[in-house]
Amino acid sequence: MTAEARPRLVILISGRGSNMLAFIDVCRSGELNAEIALVLSNNPDAAGLALAAEAGIETAAVNHRDYHSREAFDAALTQRVQAAEPDLVILAGFMRILTPVFISPFAGRLLNIHPSLLPKYPGLHTHQRALDAGDTEAGATVHFVTPELDGGPPILQVRVPIEPGDDADTLAARVIRQEHWIYPEAARWFIEGRVKLTQAGAELDGQILDQSGQVLAPR
Ligand code: GRF
Repeated sequence: MTAEARPRLVILISGRGSNMLAFIDVCRSGELNAEIALVLSNNPDAAGLALAAEAGIETAAVNHRDYHSREAFDAALTQRVQAAEPDLVILAGFMRILTPVFISPFAGRLLNIHPSLLPKYPGLHTHQRALDAGDTEAGATVHFVTPELDGGPPILQVRVPIEPGDDADTLAARVIRQEHWIYPEAARWFIEGRVKLTQAGAELDGQILDQSGQVLAPR
C-alpha cells in the first residue's frame, strides 16, 4: 500500500489529548498504518488541539455552544468529519454525548475508549467509583460506539490492579498508560479488517466477543 493510500483517521477530543498524542506517535513511527486526516474538538481551547497543530496535523473546532440542540451540533460535526473522508473515527476524551445524527453515518467505524472495565461504570468519575466500590481491579475498554452511552460492544480491555493507598489520580495514571497502547492496538485490528461491528456484537477474527471484549494483559 502506498503512503497516499493509508487509512484515514479522524480524532475527536475535548481536552488534553494524550490518547491523540499516542496515535500521532504510532502513525509517525509506522506501527499503525494510518494517517491522521483531522483532529477536531468541540472546545476551541482544548490543549490537545494546539498540540495536534504543532505536530502539523489539520485541526478544526466545532463549538457546541454555537448550536441550539445536540442534533444541530451533531449535524455540523457530521459534515466536518465527513469532509475529511475518514475510514475510522476515534473518540479520544470527547466529552459530548452524541446522538444518532452523528453516530448513524459512522456506525461500525466509530470507536471510543472508556476508563473502566465496561460494562461497569459507564459515564463519569469511573476511578472514584471503582475505589468506592472496593474493587480490586480497574482498567480501560475500547468499544464500538452506539447510541447507548459507553454501551457499545467492547473490542479490547486491559485490567490493572487497584493498589492499597490508591486514589482516583494514582489509579487514573496507571490506567491511562495502558490506554495509550490498547487504543492504537484496537485501531490496528480495525484497519487490518480483523474486527468489525455485527448485529451480534463486536467480532474479532470471526469470533463474537463477550461483554468485556478481548482481554489483554497490561504492558
Ligand atoms: C481518557 O481517560 C479516556 O479514557 C476518556 O477520557 C480521557 C481522555 O484523556 N474517555 P486524554 O484527553 O486522551 O488525555
